[in-house]
Amino acid sequence: MRLFRLDTSIRTDGSVSRELADTVESTWRAEHPEGTVVRRDVGTSPLSVTSWIDAVGGRGVDDEARTTQQTDAAALAATLADEVLEADAILIATQLYNFGVPAQLKTWVDLLITDPRLSPAGEPPLAGRPAVLVVARGGGYGPGTPREGWDHATPWVRRILADVFGLDLHLVEAELTLAGVNPALDAFRGLAEQSRRDAHVTAVAHGQAIASLARASAA
Ligand SMILES: Cc1cc2nc3c(=O)[nH]c(=O)nc-3n(C[C@H](O)[C@H](O)[C@H](O)COP(=O)(O)O)c2cc1C
Repeated sequence: MRLFRLDTSIRTDGSVSRELADTVESTWRAEHPEGTVVRRDVGTSPLSVTSWIDAVGGRGVDDEARTTQQTDAAALAATLADEVLEADAILIATQLYNFGVPAQLKTWVDLLITDPRLSPAGEPPLAGRPAVLVVARGGGYGPGTPREGWDHATPWVRRILADVFGLDLHLVEAELTLAGVNPALDAFRGLAEQSRRDAHVTAVAHGQAIASLARASAA
């Protein structure tokens, strides 16, 4: 069995999304001790946005007419697509930056979609594949909060993963991760701790779910 894991946080120390993804991964691993985890970390090793521009520019161009950059970009997109297509389960850990999706996650998705196998125009080859999406947010965006509706990352990522790729998506969310860092959020420390604890419980449940779903579909 194979788990593909994508991390997008720009930090390695103190990253809540990585911590929650570790919980999902270790839960999956407990079910599949012989399994393989394939990782891509676009937080520490971002993909170049020029690769995406070259991949788009090279589409429909004959092989011999493509620039070297366009050929390399198509090969990179194929590698990224192989990583997800060869996985039995998928884990993506991301967060909110400036009320939106991390640029490095957007570039990963954009590059993936240039691969003909993952084009939104075709039948989704990942349909029904079990996946966990982890999202960490510094603030709080729940119903009735002043910034309700300002999280423009989670709905977009869900749209891509669940609706475009057709993944069987399970969501793990931790909010108020900046409580204790940003003094304006001091009053919410308790809520932040609760959110983190709840997220780990959910991460275990979803880790088990994607492990058993992957096992069931392989049987
Ligand atoms: C450059 C930057 C921009 C951020 N923008 C937002 C934001 O718009 N809204 C928010 O709630 N949190 C924001 N945050 C906080 C992160 O979402 C939060 O720290 C989250 O836990 C980061 O993920 P990580 O813990 O996995 O590193 C921002 C953090 C950074 C570094």
